[in-house]
Amino acid sequence: MQINKIAVIGAGIMGHGIAHTYAQYGFNVVLVDTNDEILKQARNESINEIDMLTEEGLVTDEVDIVLSRMQFTTDLKNSVSDVDYVEEAVSEDLDLKKDIYKKLDKFCPSHTILASNTSFLPIRDLAAATRRSDKVIGAHWVNPPHIIPLVELVPTSDTSDETIQTTVELHKSCNKAPAVLARDAHGFMPRLLAVLLNEAIACLEEGLASAEEIDKMVSNSFGFRLPTLGPLRGLDYWNLELFKAATDHLVVEYNDERYRSPKLVETMVEQGKLSMKVGEGFYNYKDVDILQLRLERDRKYCKQLKVLRDAGAI
Ligand SMILES: NC(=O)c1ccc[n+]([C@@H]2O[C@H](COP(=O)([O-])OP(=O)(O)OC[C@H]3O[C@@H](n4cnc5c(N)ncnc54)[C@H](O)[C@@H]3O)[C@@H](O)[C@H]2O)c1
Repeated sequence: MQINKIAVIGAGIMGHGIAHTYAQYGFNVVLVDTNDEILKQARNESINEIDMLTEEGLVTDEVDIVLSRMQFTTDLKNSVSDVDYVEEAVSEDLDLKKDIYKKLDKFCPSHTILASNTSFLPIRDLAAATRRSDKVIGAHWVNPPHIIPLVELVPTSDTSDETIQTTVELHKSCNKAPAVLARDAHGFMPRLLAVLLNEAIACLEEGLASAEEIDKMVSNSFGFRLPTLGPLRGLDYWNLELFKAATDHLVVEYNDERYRSPKLVETMVEQGKLSMKVGEGFYNYKDVDILQLRLERDRKYCKQLKVLRDAGAI
């Protein structure tokens, strides 16, 4: 499906950045909020951010050209009457979002896709407020949305393949990195984050290290590796048996079942899917030149190291 015009509902921290991202990539965008003061602020913030992105060489069009593709309004009904895609980014309140979805269903053309930036509310509840559940999908951006690449797509069992595909293509065309979940899950991203953040806070609470030392340890170790490898590929460069031994040790020493690895780890260890070195882990490396792969990884690490050193971050 061809997307020409997009509405973003909610012009707060996320909404304004999402709106000017679409506009940077040539889409006509209407940004909707409840009062003119909020919209004025959204416009000003957008100007500063687009200027900064242009200075950094990340946007080719000047701010005036990007802004010429954007409208700012409080009129929900008329602004969505000709849009092909809506990104809803109002406050995280289920009743408010359901009410907006009911209105969008009424005011938008029948082909319009309705996407939500919700962090953890069930997409199926929003879909149920409409008569077009096949065209409802979660499209969760990460703050700051005009910079961070991921858009996490969350289909429900009713979301059509066409809706998923159109949403993937839309965000690819904006230079984003869409990733599609297999099903509507409660707060997928917050779930991953919760483990790390809670553990960092627990270490602080136990007086194991200062906040500054904890941040340094994460940023300069696995935090450094994550952009290149991600968690699962990163494990393949290590060894699943050793990882299991480490988590088993934590279970015993802290007397805490929270640290026990999922059953899949035991299964994979039994099957010998331990690492890249043995040819299979979470990914298959049977026909891959492993030495070359390690060199490519190291090259990426070197580039990242230089950027961080130049920025004075290390
Ligand atoms: N802030 C983040 O880091 C972040 C990250 C990812 C996802 N999210 C999600 O994005 C959504 C928006 O979050 P935010 O941080 O931008 O919130 P925010 O409070 O900055 O902005 C929400 C905006 O929605 C507007 N709004 C409320 N009711 C409205 C209505 N009826 N019509 C139009 N606009 C209305 C508010 O006036 C406000 O400007 C939430 O669902 C949140 O969970 C936030």
